[in-house]
Amino acid sequence: MSEGKKNLGAVGVEIRDLVKTFPAYGQKNGEVFAANHVSLSVEPGEMVTLLGPSGCGKTTLLRMVAGFLMPSSGEIRIGDREVTRIPPNKRNVGMMFQSYALFPHMTVYDNVAYGLKLKHMGKPEIRDRVRAILQLMQIEEYASRFPNEISGGQQQRVALARAVVTEPSVLLFDEPLSNLDAKLREYMREELRKIQKRVGITSLYVTHDQSDAMAISDKVIFMRSGTIEQTGTAMEIYARPRNQFVAGFIGKANFVRPDAVHSVSGGQAEITLLGRRMTIGASEECGSEKSCVVMIRPEDVKISAEGAFRARILSKAYFGQYIRHSLEIGGCEIEQMDFTQSNAALQEGDEITVSFVTDSLRLLPGEDKMEI
Ligand SMILES: Nc1ncnc2c1ncn2[C@@H]1O[C@H](COP(=O)(O)OP(=O)(O)OP(=O)(O)O)[C@@H](O)[C@H]1O
Ligand SMILES: [Mg+2]
Repeated sequence: MSEGKKNLGAVGVEIRDLVKTFPAYGQKNGEVFAANHVSLSVEPGEMVTLLGPSGCGKTTLLRMVAGFLMPSSGEIRIGDREVTRIPPNKRNVGMMFQSYALFPHMTVYDNVAYGLKLKHMGKPEIRDRVRAILQLMQIEEYASRFPNEISGGQQQRVALARAVVTEPSVLLFDEPLSNLDAKLREYMREELRKIQKRVGITSLYVTHDQSDAMAISDKVIFMRSGTIEQTGTAMEIYARPRNQFVAGFIGKANFVRPDAVHSVSGGQAEITLLGRRMTIGASEECGSEKSCVVMIRPEDVKISAEGAFRARILSKAYFGQYIRHSLEIGGCEIEQMDFTQSNAALQEGDEITVSFVTDSLRLLPGEDKMEI
């Protein structure tokens, strides 16, 4: 299939009201809801990420789609087939795990051919299919090597080749990049995304790494304690997180309690923040009865001579593309990211003025347990 061409045979995944409980250890008759009435859909050819903190139920959900785990209730559909109680080998899904789980005693070729042999496919057809997929992944030259004779990144491509060679309808990934160092990880996720788009295969990708999720997904599903908190593109979730928890998990954010919330309506809030009245965006869930916080992304704090807020530089750190300043503003510590480099001469202890990009500030329901 040529680059960018849609896979016309791609099918979607539909999860409806899925529940999975496990017995809670140490509690008589207690249950943990690893999936608590989860509904979601993955469109044909789409790459969707399940993102969330450790223990929120991502792997459990993926294993139920693969068929390794039976749901307590609910329904899973792949294309127009209900597969909830169908065994894994009859679901036509491919899975790629954190450890690539390549067979160490088999060559790259045999690793990739394995799934086709299980299907009792004829030798010539196996050879054609394996060759084509090795070529697609650009690893033909390693066909006769063993896994320990190729690099981590190449192993990952072999694992991906093995997962897609059987032409599954759906590809499931469980943290496939977590073993790699930061640089290789970034490179490999670009590669993965390119190949996924090229093959046009419907994919569900589990990670607790927000930058992986943002870099590769068409859609991000943010999970917490077995439920879905928010669904949207990475950009939507970053700019308009539903609450403080999501905002704090996706990207960096400062949270400041407003002095007063005067009104909230139509997605906007009239507030007083650090002694100044302003209009900012607001989550639909910010009623007057809820304790709300203002999200200020570090890049939305601008150092400017005309700024209305007096600030003092507590510390600074250089990161190449940007300088991070920790600022004290009206008794609050606020992190600022400066991409302009024009303020490079500023030092710790300097008194400055700053402004906020008020269009980007957002009033959100606060977390009881999160520090602000
Ligand atoms: N076999 C099991 N028996 C009992 N509890 C389980 C079992 N498998 C998972 N759980 C519980 O279900 C919840 C969800 O676990 P799951 O492995 O799906 O989390 P996760 O989001 O994949 O986390 P991580 O990012 O750490 O991999 C956790 O509270 C976990 O302890
Ligand atoms: Mg997991």
